[in-house]
Amino acid sequence: MPDMARHSGLFQWTDQDRTGVRLLDRDHMMVFQQAQLLSQALERKDPDSVRSSRRFLLDFLPQMFEREDRLMANSAHGPRGEHQDSHRKLLIRALPQANTRGLGALDAGRDLLSVLVEWRDHHIPTHDHALAIHVRGVELKPFETGGARRVSGNVHWDRLSVMVVDGQFAFRGTARAMLKDLGVRAIQEARDGIDALRSLHERPADVILVNQHMAPMDGAEFTRELRHLGESPCPRAVIILMTGEDVSQGFINRALDAGIHDLLKKPLSLDSLKSRLERHMLDPLPFRETGRRVLPVHPDKAMKTHHRAE
Ligand SMILES: [Fe+2]
Repeated sequence: MPDMARHSGLFQWTDQDRTGVRLLDRDHMMVFQQAQLLSQALERKDPDSVRSSRRFLLDFLPQMFEREDRLMANSAHGPRGEHQDSHRKLLIRALPQANTRGLGALDAGRDLLSVLVEWRDHHIPTHDHALAIHVRGVELKPFETGGARRVSGNVHWDRLSVMVVDGQFAFRGTARAMLKDLGVRAIQEARDGIDALRSLHERPADVILVNQHMAPMDGAEFTRELRHLGESPCPRAVIILMTGEDVSQGFINRALDAGIHDLLKKPLSLDSLKSRLERHMLDPLPFRETGRRVLPVHPDKAMKTHHRAE
């Protein structure tokens, strides 16, 4: 569709394009901006600018779809499968295939632009707006409390699957009882990291509560294993490290680098467990891929602060 690029106002973002969900709007706006640049570069027949917009978009689209998918999982969005399918189809068309690699920059740019038009005119109205309506229905209300992000709303506890990894039988029992109180039905336990990985391969979990002290892998080493793409059964699980009084800043930094989402201090309380899980279910952290691993992106390093505050 080579004449599409003639309309320079093609991807002008307006208020009507808003879904009302911050995560979606921020991402959509970014894609609109770049699509607009791509469209203008095509109009100027400027292959260098086409290439750079295209490179940005091919990197950004999978990440955006991943964030949406996380949002769907965490808000228990019913039509997740159809929405994922639509993402997959768009990506297959957008990503360079073996037989299109020889295309000139302008042709490749035009192909990508036609996928973006499809995304804007069909995918967003059909899938993203439905997701937005669903998410707005679970009433996300982020507010600030002493620098820590808090949200309230309805987590679908009964659809969440959680694993507790801890060497102490008594602790696992306490954690299980609290999770049951919250309404979680799918609860798995593991004595150590090896045991946990084995079970997760059979039944992946959305959330993993992992102890700091374990052998042969400690909590940080276990997290590092779980973040490996291709090898891990659930590389994007929410991982919460449970620490004792003796945790050092060095260990916390190592666990953050390994890819934990958050910390919880032992002994657990039902309130802190609930609010920590709600925060990550209702306002999920985005992930970035680094080589063969995925890591949650923390908007700030406030974790240390509220860990100390509790
Ligand atoms: Fe989508």
